[in-house]
Amino acid sequence: MLELDKVNAGYGQAQILRDLSLHVAPGEILCLLGRNGAGKTTTIKAIMGLLPLLSGAVRLDGVSLNELPAHQVPGRGIGYVPQGRRLFAELSVAQNLEIGLMVRGSGTEVLDAVLELFPRLRERFHQRAQTLSGGEQQMLATARALCLEPKVLLLDEPTEGLQPSMIEAIRQVVAVMRDRGVGIILVEQRVDAVLSVADRVSFIENGHNLETLDADALRRDHAIIERHLGV
Ligand SMILES: Nc1ncnc2c1ncn2[C@@H]1O[C@H](COP(=O)(O)OP(=O)(O)OP(=O)(O)O)[C@@H](O)[C@H]1O
Ligand SMILES: [Mg+2]
Repeated sequence: MLELDKVNAGYGQAQILRDLSLHVAPGEILCLLGRNGAGKTTTIKAIMGLLPLLSGAVRLDGVSLNELPAHQVPGRGIGYVPQGRRLFAELSVAQNLEIGLMVRGSGTEVLDAVLELFPRLRERFHQRAQTLSGGEQQMLATARALCLEPKVLLLDEPTEGLQPSMIEAIRQVVAVMRDRGVGIILVEQRVDAVLSVADRVSFIENGHNLETLDADALRRDHAIIERHLGV
């Protein structure tokens, strides 16, 4: 179980997250929804140790993560797919995945299992990341995160700018990882992209939790979405 417990954090003098709390259990998909600038990416960065907490805690299975240096956080089993992908553009598909494998010393059987999920990457194994299509790059960023055999997977707007077939491919992989017991935090702008896979949905506004609901409740009552996102 990953939990954020009343996290306050920000950039320099600017506090962004205010008493933000959430949790995700193994085999569960939690979606974070909120408008532009609400603090979704900042929440993910706080989990990854990329910004210091003013107060509060981030814990994985009861063990504090926020006291670790940021480079040690992935090694605890947190896979991160950043907004905008952040691949090593000059490196090949193979080399990008190798970096993922190194984080926790995973072997080639892990690589094989990941490529099983993304056959397209196997076909483009020696191609440089910067020459992949946008959708393929998103697959590679996701595959790299899976190479560290994550307990928790954090995906920041993975479907941004992708066509429906790619969105569907990413969604299927997310569902497979959930079924294998990975806890998933999925950040999205578009409600329709997440409602079908989410277990729970947490609305964020101004760095604070507005409300966390079962996805079933949202599927039944779209007015809740309109109220929180104004869409
Ligand atoms: N490096 C930074 N330095 C200062 N302020 C920042 C920095 N990064 C983000 N912010 C500010 O923090 C607030 C929350 O940004 P964040 O990126 O978390 O939003 P978001 O919910 O992910 O938005 P989007 O949907 O547009 O990705 C914004 O007001 C933003 O301007
Ligand atoms: Mg963001």
